[in-house]
Amino acid sequence: MLPEKILSSKIFIVDDSLENVQLLTDLLKRRGFQNIHSVTESLKAVETYLEIQPDLVLLDLNMPHLDGFGVMEQLNAIDDHSDVPVIVLTAKTDQEIRIRAFEAGVRDFISKPFNIKEVINRIQNWLEVRLLHKEISNQNRELEARVRERTQKLAHTQREIVKRLARAGEYRDNETGMHIVRMSRYSSLLAETVGINPEGCELIFHASPMHDIGKIGIPDRILLKPGKLTRDEWDIMRSHTEMGAEILSGSDSDLLKKAEVIAKTHHEKWDGSGYPKGTKGEDIPIEGRIVAVSDVFDALTSERPYKKAWTVEEAVEELDRGRGAHFDPQLIEKFKHVLPDVLKIKSKFVDSEETQSKMSLDVFHPDLKPEV
Ligand SMILES: [Fe+2]
Ligand SMILES: [Fe+2]
Repeated sequence: MLPEKILSSKIFIVDDSLENVQLLTDLLKRRGFQNIHSVTESLKAVETYLEIQPDLVLLDLNMPHLDGFGVMEQLNAIDDHSDVPVIVLTAKTDQEIRIRAFEAGVRDFISKPFNIKEVINRIQNWLEVRLLHKEISNQNRELEARVRERTQKLAHTQREIVKRLARAGEYRDNETGMHIVRMSRYSSLLAETVGINPEGCELIFHASPMHDIGKIGIPDRILLKPGKLTRDEWDIMRSHTEMGAEILSGSDSDLLKKAEVIAKTHHEKWDGSGYPKGTKGEDIPIEGRIVAVSDVFDALTSERPYKKAWTVEEAVEELDRGRGAHFDPQLIEKFKHVLPDVLKIKSKFVDSEETQSKMSLDVFHPDLKPEV
């Protein structure tokens, strides 16, 4: 008796002779095979094949309308077909035909008239091969799924770490948690409007909260100084861009690479008067230009201990004044265009009293705090 998994495999017979089909079916059933399907019209072979997804095909060569080679051609066009062995049933011993059939993808031949032992042995051998293939591809699928799951988890962990790093930066700074929530959303929205693909927008979304991470390297006496900063103190303050980039540098992660660029370039200005490099116009990476706009807009429209929140109109006017000087003019246009969506984000993520009381001084934007 053959093993159960061999006997329960699906066998598909394609033969125009009903007599042959019945003969083979009876023969196989007597040996315990339970899953035998057949067609006598070769034109329906592929359709039925797709429906039943057999483990093995027994194919006649000489058939009207579409012969065995024609059926093979159609089968070969199906994905994943190559693991399903096709055995040709033939009375012909012609070598040329056999070679042609092999070349068309046929695995083996069973001679007519059938010898029961030959039929069973060949079918069993090929089904064993087929089942092995099936097992391997199932295992591969499982492994791939597991790898996918791990990769997702890793990406999730990476984003988590980055978020926490950004929060650690906030504790050093006097910003509210909601600032980075809003500005990262404004940033990805703006990225979308300039045609950055969804993955790129997501990277900017996750990377932009770290734009000021370099402030963890700025001494308290400067970072928390209530009065105006001296020129030397400002120079140190400005180094938060390069310090942030340094903290984030050297990683293989796309997320950290993006965060590094943002940390380094978010204070560059379109006319070249920004820092740390004084880079101009489109030489400033787009993500840096984007974060510059969303960061300043959020700072302007947020309340600070020494200033009221500006109205949206005032803030937009201020952005407009800065177009071509501080900001990429194209981005200001786009920003105004998506202003309704910006305002939705703004009203969804408002500062709570608790987060506001945490702020004592805005050291976030040198632009908002005049130099001595
Ligand atoms: Fe900054
Ligand atoms: Fe900011």
